[in-house]
Amino acid sequence: MFDRSIKIAPSILSADFANLGAEIRAVEAEGADWIHVDPMDGHFVPNLTIGPNVVAAIRPHVKTFMDVHLMIAPADPYIEAFAKAGSDMITIHAESGPHLHRSLQAVRGFGKKAGVALNMTTPISHIEHILDTVDMVLIMTINPGFGGQKFTHSMVGKVRDMRRMIGDRPIHIQVDGGIDPTTAPLVAAAGADVLVAGSAVFKGGSVDTPQVYGDNMRAIRAAAEAAQA
Ligand code: DX5
Ligand code: ZN
Repeated sequence: MFDRSIKIAPSILSADFANLGAEIRAVEAEGADWIHVDPMDGHFVPNLTIGPNVVAAIRPHVKTFMDVHLMIAPADPYIEAFAKAGSDMITIHAESGPHLHRSLQAVRGFGKKAGVALNMTTPISHIEHILDTVDMVLIMTINPGFGGQKFTHSMVGKVRDMRRMIGDRPIHIQVDGGIDPTTAPLVAAAGADVLVAGSAVFKGGSVDTPQVYGDNMRAIRAAAEAAQA
């Protein structure tokens, strides 16, 4: 049976960048299911974050599943580096190049799970005919580039439509941006199973007070599980 249970994926974009290994160990000890990593190139999105060297450096600290959301265009020249850095899943933006199918096949060619991310203005029909090449669809619920932005409510219907299109295919639906205990139930009810959260997980805590991270994640999970269809 395909696992559609709620998975909480803290985005380390909101963690202490001087202490990433300890931050990852802390959220995993407190119940994180996946670790979400956000490479950005200052071109596809207006921010610069981390590259393959940092992904390789944090890899030994990730005991769960390392989910790497590339906000890079073109992505193709970097797929190999992020694969060799130890990503478990590599998610490519549908808008990042003209040959998405080839990019997704390249990811799978390195033995990695392949995700496709849709910016808010990209319709789900864009990927209708290539669903057999993906393990996950990421429905963006903000404009990518920064943590701490407000959830976009009109994306709830998009998640619902995506869930219907997927049917019984073994494909996860991930949401990213503005997920907290008030918005998690909306997307869970619509069919999302992987919930990325940055600010809502890391706020108020630190590696010295990891139980805050745990409380934050439990609040998101409880709200989502109660609403899941
Ligand atoms: C933004 C990233 C997100 C970000 C989410 O482009 O893709 O993963 O960290 O942050 P929050 O949960 O604070 O909206
Ligand atoms: Zn992300």
